Amino acid sequence: MSAVKMDRTAGRSNIVPASAEAILDAAARLCAGGLVAFPTETVYGLGADALDDRAVAAVFAAKARPQFNPLIVHLPGLAEASALVHFDDRAQACAREFWPGPLTLVLPRREGCKVSRLAGAGLDTLALRVPGHTIAHALLCAAGRPIVAPSANRSGAVSPTEAGHVRASLGDRVDLILDGGRCPVGIESSVLDLSGDTPVLLRPGAVPGEAIEAVVGKLAQPEATGPRRSPGLLQNHYAPRLPLRLGADHPRAGEALLAFGPDAPEGFAASLNLSPAGDLREAAGNLFAMLHQLDIPRHTGFAAMAVPQEGLGRAINDRLRRAAGP
Ligand code: TXA
Ligand code: MG
Repeated sequence: MSAVKMDRTAGRSNIVPASAEAILDAAARLCAGGLVAFPTETVYGLGADALDDRAVAAVFAAKARPQFNPLIVHLPGLAEASALVHFDDRAQACAREFWPGPLTLVLPRREGCKVSRLAGAGLDTLALRVPGHTIAHALLCAAGRPIVAPSANRSGAVSPTEAGHVRASLGDRVDLILDGGRCPVGIESSVLDLSGDTPVLLRPGAVPGEAIEAVVGKLAQPEATGPRRSPGLLQNHYAPRLPLRLGADHPRAGEALLAFGPDAPEGFAASLNLSPAGDLREAAGNLFAMLHQLDIPRHTGFAAMAVPQEGLGRAINDRLRRAAGP
């Protein structure tokens, strides 16, 4: 039986520090069909056995995620990934350059690939990622099978970058939350579709588009409709409870200020700065944690300052736009 004692009575936390023993216990739970939240370099993921239809269905249920929105399959390395999908030269070049790390590749499924059809939402492609976080890597090695892991939040809510965010969003719907502290990158992986002739950046993310273009050439924008759109891309995905106003330079009465850079207005109590120095890496790392922190009933909304539309700024602006969406 499990090495880590679990108490599921109300109020008791299912968060455990990610010791070597806890990681082995978490892997055993995954292999037995359980749900385990774990840290990656981007955000916390809600893990389940990708080969087990029931476990995959439990992920959709725990998140209340629409079943047309496919999940990313996580693996320890390129060898394990190549067993599931076809890698062409471009995909191999990307894997060499960016794995392990925050790039997800969408590639054609191999015939006979055993990953649950539900995980891939019935598509003939699969999204794969090899995380660079030591705890995620150790867990994937110990599980010894592909693991689906969407962000560990209720569908449509702000992504979690701390174990406490997972607990607040999913509570006892997850069997175990491995606590590995704050996720160092803090924004989700870039999702690159290489299943067709033109590379398409389906989701701007932690690897800047400029860096990906240096490897695969010019990237196309996803189409709003048609087979190559990302099913989860169009929905308003990162909504905090409070309304968010973009491109603000001052908060209005009652609003909390989500500032950026050295020129932020001063003297507002409800104000957090994504990066006082104007550093996009630091801002990405703080984005979700600060949204969680300011998203409280005491405020009437967020006023978000503009962030430059370059490098990681594109991913930050994408998340802010989605948070501001209707
Ligand atoms: O950083 C990340 O990618 C995190 C960590 C936990 O790894 N995971 C994550 O998963 O953000 P999720 O489920 O929140 O977002 C996955 C995105 C969705 O927009 C989904 O539609 C897209 O990837 N996706 C998954 N499979 C796809 C496929 N076969 N074709 C197109 N898009 C796909
Ligand atoms: Mg998500």
